[in-house]
Amino acid sequence: MVETVEVAALPLAPRNPLPYLQQMKAGRSFHTGCEALRDAGGPVTRCSLAPTWMLPPLVVTTSPKGARDVLSRSYPFVDRESPAFNEQRRLNGGSLFNFKYEAWLPRRRVLQPVFTKQHVMQFAGHMAESADKLSQAWGEDVVVDLDQECRRLTLRVLARSVLGLDIDGRADPLGEPLRAMQKYVRDRGVRPVRAPWWLPTPARRRARAANDTFQRLADDILQGCRADPTRDAPLVRALIDVADPETGQPLSDDDIRHELVVFLAAGHNTTATTLTYALWALGAHPELQDRVAAEVAAVGDRPLTSNDVPGLGYTVQVLHEALRLCPPAAGTTRMVMKDFDVDGYRVEAGTLVLVGIYAMHRDPSLWDHPLVFDPDRFSPANSKDRDRWQFLPFGGGPRSCIGDHFAMLEATLGLATIIRHAEIESLDYDFPVAVPLTMVAAAPIRARARPRN
Ligand code: HEM
Repeated sequence: MVETVEVAALPLAPRNPLPYLQQMKAGRSFHTGCEALRDAGGPVTRCSLAPTWMLPPLVVTTSPKGARDVLSRSYPFVDRESPAFNEQRRLNGGSLFNFKYEAWLPRRRVLQPVFTKQHVMQFAGHMAESADKLSQAWGEDVVVDLDQECRRLTLRVLARSVLGLDIDGRADPLGEPLRAMQKYVRDRGVRPVRAPWWLPTPARRRARAANDTFQRLADDILQGCRADPTRDAPLVRALIDVADPETGQPLSDDDIRHELVVFLAAGHNTTATTLTYALWALGAHPELQDRVAAEVAAVGDRPLTSNDVPGLGYTVQVLHEALRLCPPAAGTTRMVMKDFDVDGYRVEAGTLVLVGIYAMHRDPSLWDHPLVFDPDRFSPANSKDRDRWQFLPFGGGPRSCIGDHFAMLEATLGLATIIRHAEIESLDYDFPVAVPLTMVAAAPIRARARPRN
């Protein structure tokens, strides 16, 4: 619950003391940039990155209370109005991810049933089987790029579970195009001066070509489902069956394609990064890997199902720790439409608020030894008194991730299945990241995989 406060009487958030150019640089980076702004200006801090007619003023919050105050609010206080969301809408078309409130609410209601905890359990078979195939294919003793392997896995699972598409054997065709689109949207979102929309700059040409790749795949999926009414594709069917509440009209093919594009993008990249980070961390900590292996061995020698998840508590803790240190959504923004309070400060209409998820997950005032990979911090005993707004890998409030249960089930069954078959040894000390928009591995994550005896 957000308590009522006299907003007009509250002070504005303090100005960030960093020099302008440093603020500018930090404001472009959702991960370490938010840490720098927090360290200099505190958990709620105000930056002006350009005159307001070029870019909205920015308030960054990294406190659990600030996150709660922002994310638990909806229209008319906040909306999807930021330059980055507007760019994404223009490039990929309107979708659940970028719709403003009025268009978003009915779409969320239609799609939510596909992703409830209960409903995603029916995809557990695809999830476990795909991870099984992947790790069996590694054979005797190989060096693999965990990132590439996990990306391939999560795209295959998403495609088979909700899109009715079998892409077994194909490499991930979406990695590069996705980066090009995300980088373009991010850059346009933070730049004070942007080339006009019609100008064919190299970055825009790349982004449009990348979008074409996504739209073509989305069209294959849609036409495949229309041609074969028996094809099992719950997300596509939900979109085909939608009728406008007022006119009774169905969605157009364009509308459906735009929605599928966002699910293709948001639904595999994020989970892949989580699984990659978890495997990399276990590959660097054999004693933690042994605990996961022992846990999954206790299930017995049969394919894992959703019923096994309660017995995979430590595996889930490992994933939570991976999501804490490497949250694929390093930060999330809301455009303020009406003044409200953020952790004791007033934010004014026209301000962009950024919740620094990565910065909060690594804040030494919130976590003991925050840079240490320690899944035990997520044991039931150690978690019970933690503020639920201090760990937000899936965001929070009405616009939190619709795919959270899908992602956690997929990652849990995937991680347990892979560790059941393979002993992982990480070959790199670091996990370099890039943040074109979501956080991804910036280089191959090399590991040796040997069959587990
Ligand atoms: C580990 C995996 C994932 C992470 C960390 C993640 C994270 C997030 C976060 C933080 C948001 C909220 C952004 C905001 O506050 O504006 C979000 C939204 C969203 N996510 Fe995920 N996500 C993951 C997996 C998935 C999957 C598997 C799907 C689909 C199958 C998905 C689809 C979406 C969509 C469509 C939205 C927009 C929801 C809306 O605005 O109503 N995500 N995700």
